[in-house]
Amino acid sequence: MNPPLPQHPLQHFPADFVWGVATSSFQIEGAAHEDGKGESIWDRFCRQPGAIADGSNGDTACDHYHRLEADLDLIAGLGVDAYRFSMSWPRVQPDGRGAFNEAGMHFYERLVDGLIARGIKPYLTLNHWDLPQALQDSGGWAHRETVHAFVAYARFVAKRLGERVAAITTHNEPWVMAVLGHETGLFAPGIRHRGTAMQVAHHLLLSHGLALQALRADGCTSRLGIVLNLSPIGPATPSAEDVAAARLEDGRSVRWYMDPLFKGEYPADVWQHLGVDVPQVQPDDLAAINTPMDFLGINYYTRGVVSASGAWSAQTSGKPLTDMGWEIVPEGLTELLTRMHRDWTLPPLYVKENGAAFQDTLVKGCVHDVERTDYIASHIAAVGDALAQGVPMAGYMVWSLMDNFEWASGYAKRFGIVHVDYATLTRTPKDSYLWYRDFLLAQQRLRQQALAA
Ligand code: FCB
Repeated sequence: MNPPLPQHPLQHFPADFVWGVATSSFQIEGAAHEDGKGESIWDRFCRQPGAIADGSNGDTACDHYHRLEADLDLIAGLGVDAYRFSMSWPRVQPDGRGAFNEAGMHFYERLVDGLIARGIKPYLTLNHWDLPQALQDSGGWAHRETVHAFVAYARFVAKRLGERVAAITTHNEPWVMAVLGHETGLFAPGIRHRGTAMQVAHHLLLSHGLALQALRADGCTSRLGIVLNLSPIGPATPSAEDVAAARLEDGRSVRWYMDPLFKGEYPADVWQHLGVDVPQVQPDDLAAINTPMDFLGINYYTRGVVSASGAWSAQTSGKPLTDMGWEIVPEGLTELLTRMHRDWTLPPLYVKENGAAFQDTLVKGCVHDVERTDYIASHIAAVGDALAQGVPMAGYMVWSLMDNFEWASGYAKRFGIVHVDYATLTRTPKDSYLWYRDFLLAQQRLRQQALAA
């Protein structure tokens, strides 16, 4: 018998609230060298010994590139309103500048048309980290020319798909690309230099703003925005040292992105702290970054806790942990969303990623992932709480549709609501998939009742 699924009171969400599920290109597509695709920085990074925990790469991943129709059916089976996917820049423009690759574009046209045919809104992300290696070879995001290359790529994509996709996100998680990619070096391209990381962050933000301006000038009708990874950051103890350390970390991970995007300025305390590592900023850059957006996307997984000594650890905090070692803190999402609403003037907000890795067991065609189901249900409830407190929440998307390549963790960490057997590439919906499907059905009924009343 199946274990009982977690019960949460059914909250009312607005009738136009967008429910979705998310993936990204490098994590699922595979077909790394097919149909003219260029090399990405993640293709290259995976070849560095020790870079990926299980020594794996994205060559095959979930083989989504060859299983598009069946995967679209899985998405449709959930009953979601929207599917968030990313486009591999080197698949559509192998060198990141110059010629575009029609075979690569054709894949995304089939994806977008397949979604529309199934009544699902396409939410496209232009950059979910897989930069063309050719651009990295000439300096990557640290080099100002990459900003202009990105704008040209964005314009090309929007001209081809802009009328068919509901939303275009410029970048997914600039903090991760800047800091994990260029300061700690844990992610591609594996650089370890704080000044470079801060220049990268600036160029990502600038390319976002300039792309928005160019797309609007071109008459693009999709809604345009960016997706940030954000957490509420608090001190481990009330000591003055911990409070100051937490404030600085909030500055580096939250305000460094939110303030330029929504106020047109970098936070002064962080600027001062960075010393020689501040980015080079040209006179009109901040005005461009401050270009109004149609939405802001937030990815939330856990809270941040900071101690000045570095002694605090999630492992001993007493809270339940996911397989990533991340604390499970649904109320942290409500805290984050209400804080955003208080501290900045915001467009409609979407949770664009939320989910959890757990060790799953596939037995007789079933995965009873009670913990993941409870994680998703409790975080949806946390979004409902934020809505009830007046936060302009417009949507929620589960990370992720299926188990996939979890970056430096390889395939060992499973975030999917669909199980993937990497030996056979067979997909099996987990209990969390069934729960989300039933939850969406119930939401659908509530919408219909409200309409009928
Ligand atoms: C986010 C990434 C996404 C996935 C989740 C677990 O930071 O955007 O690709 O890896 O974490």
